Amino acid sequence: MADRVLANQDFADDASAEKGDAPQFGVYIHWPFCLSKCPYCDFNSHVRRAEIDESRFVRAFAAEIAATAARMPGRTVSTIFFGGGTPSLMQPATVGAILEAIARHWRVAPDAEVTLEANPTSVEAARFRGYRSAGVNRVSLGVQALDDRVLKELGRLHSAREAIDAVHIARSVFERYSFDLIYARPQQTPQEWAGELKEALSEASEHLSLYQLTIEADTPFAALHAAGKLKVPDDDDARALYDTTQEICAAHGLPAYEISNHARPGAECRHNLVYWRMHEYAGIGPGAHGRLDIDHERHATATEKRPEAWLTRVENQGHGLITDEVLTREETADEFLLMGLRLAEGIDPQRYAALAGRALDAARIAALRDNGLVEMTSSGRLRVSMPGFPVLDAVVADLAA
Ligand SMILES: C[S@@+](CC[C@H](N)C(=O)[O-])C[C@H]1O[C@@H](n2cnc3c(N)ncnc32)[C@H](O)[C@@H]1O
Ligand code: SF4
Repeated sequence: MADRVLANQDFADDASAEKGDAPQFGVYIHWPFCLSKCPYCDFNSHVRRAEIDESRFVRAFAAEIAATAARMPGRTVSTIFFGGGTPSLMQPATVGAILEAIARHWRVAPDAEVTLEANPTSVEAARFRGYRSAGVNRVSLGVQALDDRVLKELGRLHSAREAIDAVHIARSVFERYSFDLIYARPQQTPQEWAGELKEALSEASEHLSLYQLTIEADTPFAALHAAGKLKVPDDDDARALYDTTQEICAAHGLPAYEISNHARPGAECRHNLVYWRMHEYAGIGPGAHGRLDIDHERHATATEKRPEAWLTRVENQGHGLITDEVLTREETADEFLLMGLRLAEGIDPQRYAALAGRALDAARIAALRDNGLVEMTSSGRLRVSMPGFPVLDAVVADLAA
């Protein structure tokens, strides 16, 4: 059934995919602090006992925005994303000052999407209204699960009730909101997940992010996993959970537009599409990554990860960059495949050929098609099929070889 749902999207996907070729420019702002560290998470997030000097951070964010804009002037910002860590720990005035700094150096499109990630533990209506007044127009909440026992196991500081209350606050303040859930958790059955997902869908509006639990190296979950104390579903069970996800979301009008992201058509997260469609984005703040197109070269940038070391670098040299590499044609084309094939709309093989300087291997595509892992759309786009998504990495590796 899920195959059929995706196939029926063919026309709409192609139309929106073509629109996606118009240049977009995103600005990513990283806020690197959390109230506590979740045992599964390897994001660049840190817990501090002492109060954070937000005005010092604002000055550093503004300086790094100015330095980045000097390298890439004249852009129009189409999306801004405050990610973390936990950006909802920032004062609304801090968010407002960063948005003002962006608008001082670049033109911001009148319809720019401005998203802020929030943890249910730090959600209050007044704070959300403050973000809205500052210019935020979309929030993404880390709900993770709707079961108190599971939330405890995940090390979360909020209950399911508090998470739902946070969703209700988000809904009352913002026209656009999304929330995240983690599935394929230890011992989770498709039946249990189906119930939880349906409950989530009854609280969702236009967008949901549904991530399979990943055991990240050097986390407490990785240690438990290595010791045999935490068992994640095997490939077959994970596949069954994945299929359940696709079917239920599609039936509720939120099909997958990316391997872990579901939206009502037209309500996709435009910022994340900037990454997946290989547009340009600036990464600002500790441990942020960027892709800048300067003089026909694609630069991959990364900043110092440690918050205090990043502050010192910015204060001394005006930016926190520690990596600024020009990608080769091959690297750029591989990244295009890796990112674009995550999307239900797939990629334009001609854009690949222009980037790589050679076409994709027709025999490899044919073999993957024969195995039902990829398909060509009516307008000639190449995309991964439903059975191909659970083995996406292998499909990409095969095509890029
Ligand atoms: C930066 S966090 C979101 C906002 C906020 N920090 C929070 O946790 O509420 C981004 C999302 O990544 C997902 N995530 C983080 N680590 C993960 C893991 N190991 N496996 C699957 N999903 C993960 C979670 O769903 C999380 O909400
Ligand atoms: S999942 Fe979110 S709240 Fe938990 S440590 Fe990671 S970034 Fe922080």
